[in-house]
Amino acid sequence: MRFTRQATAALLALLTLPACAPSDGAAATPAASGKGTPAPVADAGAGAPGIGDADFPLDGNGGYDVGHYDVTIGYTPATKHLDGVTTIDATATQPLSRFNLDLRGLEVSEVTVDGAKAGFDRRRDELVITPATALAKGARFTVKVTYAGEPKPVKDPSNLGTYGFIPTTDGAFVASEPSGSKTWFPNNDHPADKATFDFRITVPRGLTALANGELTGKTAAPGGRTTFTWRETHPMVTYLATATLGKFELRQGRTAGGIPNLAAVDPAYHDALGKLYRVSGEVTDYWSKVFGPYPFSATGGVVDNFSAGYALENQTKPMYGGFDPDTSIIAHELAHQWFGDSVSIERWKDLWLNEGFATYAEWLWSEHTGGATAEAMFRRQYAAKNDPIWKYPPGRAKPGDLFNQSVYRRGAMTLQVLRRAVGDETFFKLLRTWVADHKYGNATTPEFIALAERLSGKQLDTLFDAWLFQPSRPEV
Ligand code: TRP
Ligand code: ZN
Repeated sequence: MRFTRQATAALLALLTLPACAPSDGAAATPAASGKGTPAPVADAGAGAPGIGDADFPLDGNGGYDVGHYDVTIGYTPATKHLDGVTTIDATATQPLSRFNLDLRGLEVSEVTVDGAKAGFDRRRDELVITPATALAKGARFTVKVTYAGEPKPVKDPSNLGTYGFIPTTDGAFVASEPSGSKTWFPNNDHPADKATFDFRITVPRGLTALANGELTGKTAAPGGRTTFTWRETHPMVTYLATATLGKFELRQGRTAGGIPNLAAVDPAYHDALGKLYRVSGEVTDYWSKVFGPYPFSATGGVVDNFSAGYALENQTKPMYGGFDPDTSIIAHELAHQWFGDSVSIERWKDLWLNEGFATYAEWLWSEHTGGATAEAMFRRQYAAKNDPIWKYPPGRAKPGDLFNQSVYRRGAMTLQVLRRAVGDETFFKLLRTWVADHKYGNATTPEFIALAERLSGKQLDTLFDAWLFQPSRPEV
């Protein structure tokens, strides 16, 4: 399927409208709740400060749906200073006298809506914008935010370490899951609102800026600098956006299957470049057979010298923080291109749809290459009776502990139990149907369960309930 910009915008409107309907969110304003509560006059037409994810009440916003971001930034590693202009094309899903964007830190100097100066106010991580003229429901509008400052990485108290825009010795490592993109550009920071992106990143000469999608230009800029332009034409969640920059060695070409492939490594990882390029290509081509056609226009990987010790599945540009990735983790991050990036979660509690599937893909890769089978991997994990994963139901990721090992490993085990129950043919057809049905959109756990039951003709509630939702080790 090919998507023109217009078709994508139309599709986006269809796919993401329901996500913006503030029906299940604690954060929905009375004006928008549709429950008959009289709206306080002061709040009439105000977009909700959250998109409606009860676990993260202020993440994302209500009242509009973003179609496209143009993120223009200049960054100077020596001073850690960032200058930015972000232009957002959106559609109002309700009348709006004001609305919010998410933005953390940084200083805003000007906001315009449809070219007219707008009022703005900062309230914690919310940028509250009052357009000169209220927007009608259904109106398409353009917001432009001019800002600057030093982006501050988010230090997560739970299991996430540091994420966001992270300075390195020669630039920045930008990995924003789950909510760090608001530390470097204003946006609707929740996976339920996907949009296409243009990036224009200006850096000192000699550095390379790597963003999502395809490189569309590299031009000289004033002050001995270079501007890199990148375009992601497929809908993307905000947490997958990157603008990783610094000194990089590049290798470019195509996979055997014909997909443009770009590997980039910090010079400290010079020896990792060849393998990263080759394995990323092989894995992309193999997953394209197992899960269905590759959903994006480029693949590859980036190794930077920030010792995160972890990787992130940034759309078209998985990133590895401070290590030479083995094949297993490359298989994981590239499986995310289907599970998480193309098919995205609508609520964070469903995170096993990303991490359980990507972990299961590691097992499939092992099976494919003559290592342990997925069944053997399952048995090994199942044997550990005292593993803390048994106390944590993976089908309901906890806001304070989103990336718990259970979401990864017990999530993957759920898929192996499902595969046993429905058989290989139905199981792999299910994976392919899932990614085809929800391509470039959002999906939920109940939708996955319903599809599994429909394709197998089996009642699977007991299986899914025991594996995803009970705080105990299921019987097998
Ligand atoms: N999604 C990543 C993975 O399992 C893990 C992750 C979450 C992460 N948040 C991050 C990695 C922030 C880097 C930065 O593949
Ligand atoms: Zn993952």
